[in-house]
Amino acid sequence: MAYRTIKGMSDIYGDEMRIWAYVEATMRSYFSARLYEEIRTPIVEYTELFTRSIGESSDIVSKEMYTFVDRGERSLTMRPEGTASVIRAIIENSLVAKRDPLKLFYMGPMFRAERPQKGRKRQFYQCGVEMVGDLTAINDAEVIRDAVQFVDEVGIPKDTLSVKINTLGCSECRTAFIETLKKYFKNDFDALCEDCHFRYDKNVLRIFDCKNKDCRGIIDKAPKVTDNVCPQCERDFAVVQEELTRFQVPFVVDKDIVRGLDYYTGVVFELTSSALGAQDALGAGGRYDNLMAECGGPKKSAVGFAFGMERMMMCLGNVIIPDMSLAKTVYVAYGDNEYASDARDIAAQCETNGIATYGDYEGRSLKSQMKRANKFGFRWMIILNVDEWKEGTVTIKDLAAEDDGQVIVAQETVAEKIEELMGN
Ligand code: HAM
Repeated sequence: MAYRTIKGMSDIYGDEMRIWAYVEATMRSYFSARLYEEIRTPIVEYTELFTRSIGESSDIVSKEMYTFVDRGERSLTMRPEGTASVIRAIIENSLVAKRDPLKLFYMGPMFRAERPQKGRKRQFYQCGVEMVGDLTAINDAEVIRDAVQFVDEVGIPKDTLSVKINTLGCSECRTAFIETLKKYFKNDFDALCEDCHFRYDKNVLRIFDCKNKDCRGIIDKAPKVTDNVCPQCERDFAVVQEELTRFQVPFVVDKDIVRGLDYYTGVVFELTSSALGAQDALGAGGRYDNLMAECGGPKKSAVGFAFGMERMMMCLGNVIIPDMSLAKTVYVAYGDNEYASDARDIAAQCETNGIATYGDYEGRSLKSQMKRANKFGFRWMIILNVDEWKEGTVTIKDLAAEDDGQVIVAQETVAEKIEELMGN
């Protein structure tokens, strides 16, 4: 029987893997330079962590979690997102006591049992950040700016991106607004779809996410949370907009953004890309001021975002990432099997100098080694020809050269010479 990957889950390798490694390296360098520290949390957590934080009414918790009972004991879930785990880790390890604001970033696989389609997978990767502390609206703007600048740094074309922001208000103003909204939707309750009926009971704000045409007519005329927040939330939202303008981050206010996770309070945002299809959300996030305390930690504000890495790859499209794996790699070949161990010494000399080497050392003919070097895409070769070796020299060959691309160098200088040639 031939085994295959599970639907909605993929292998990543070859050229594609190189692009992933490049995006991951860019994430590390971009966020480390802004005092974010990397964190890794387990892939599996106790189920309650997600049900309580993301919310029972969300699609994630109500239908998409991979949950199982661990040996007849507690219910465990493969993490569907990173925020809840990071907050749990911050509390468990008392990390806020160490720095305020505490700035963390993470990358890794997430799991949601969604219907797979282009840009929507069951195992997908997110890279995200969380900032926790005594935050102000300026921190919200900073985090949005960092998200936008990061995708620019990665090389995703700016003209394909839109930044949409909204505010969901704090717990107080939202509680009052939810009553207003329930009254409004009650009038047209029967005309709403079944999903909206469920949302009405569990979290009425999520009705704004509905794509059903008949519901849309009703939703478009509904009062918006953005227009019904308290004076403090209104001021905070104005500050975020002023700061984004100052940072020269183009954005639009989209009053329909309510986000699919229940923990948000205050500003929320989404980055969409015209290079993506129906699933056009490249990344999203927002402020969530209650989660730390709800999870048993100190009362601290938090804001963060996560990008879908598969979607980042889709946006990168034709951006050419240098093939780092072979650029500084050399194929070491030898003319006679007797010199295989000398070839390994030359390889070791190169590796000590930071040049990766490849050699099969299986006694193939020189011709067959040359063929393999070409087939595997190597540019550089070191060849130990028997006569040259006896005279203390070896040949370096550039397989991409138009002429024969060969130079003969002293054995002890080979690493230095090849480095020099690679640099040119
Ligand atoms: P989210 O909107 O659920 O937010 O996911 C963030 C991003 O993950 C999406 O914009 C999308 O690019 C990607 N994504 C989500 N589901 C899938 C899927 N099935 N296949 C491929 N990509 C997907 C969160 O997860 C929040 N934790 C973000 C956050 C961090 N908020 C505050 N801090």
